[in-house]
Amino acid sequence: MFSGPLAEYSDRLSLEALGVPADAYYIRELGTDSRFRKQGMCTRAIDELCLHASAAHRTVSVRTREDNVALTSILDKKSFTFIGGCSAETGGAASNRVVYTKALS
Ligand SMILES: CC(C)(COP(=O)(O)OP(=O)(O)OC[C@H]1O[C@@H](n2cnc3c(N)ncnc32)[C@H](O)[C@@H]1OP(=O)(O)O)[C@@H](O)C(=O)NCCC(=O)NCCS
Repeated sequence: MFSGPLAEYSDRLSLEALGVPADAYYIRELGTDSRFRKQGMCTRAIDELCLHASAAHRTVSVRTREDNVALTSILDKKSFTFIGGCSAETGGAASNRVVYTKALS
């Protein structure tokens, strides 16, 4: 998992261009070891990160691969909103990413 204030990430400008606020909390990579999947770990991690972020941020943003159906399904259940797609360089190959945001109360 990689997460923190958006300002700490090199891809912040492309996210801001999509409409992610500059002061958002950003979850850039989120994964569960294959041995521990489907036990609610990712769901709890998102809940905990939102709680942590809500102390200092008004928005949380998550980026993931567009074919990560498991994570996009969890984000839908957690009331995140899809805001757009972007591409990312991984190991030299461009791959598509999607970005979701949620307002924190
Ligand atoms: C996405 C991921 C983080 C989910 O982690 P997890 O700890 O298993 O998730 P949880 O147990 O909290 O949630 C399970 C939920 O995932 C969803 N889900 C899991 N597999 C799914 C699938 N094949 N299709 C649709 N939804 C799926 C369901 O909504 C499920 O909820 P349910 O229990 O109500 O059915 C994990 O599958 C993963 O690490 N995938 C690879 C991520 C990756 O490649 N990251 C790097 C690039 S971004």
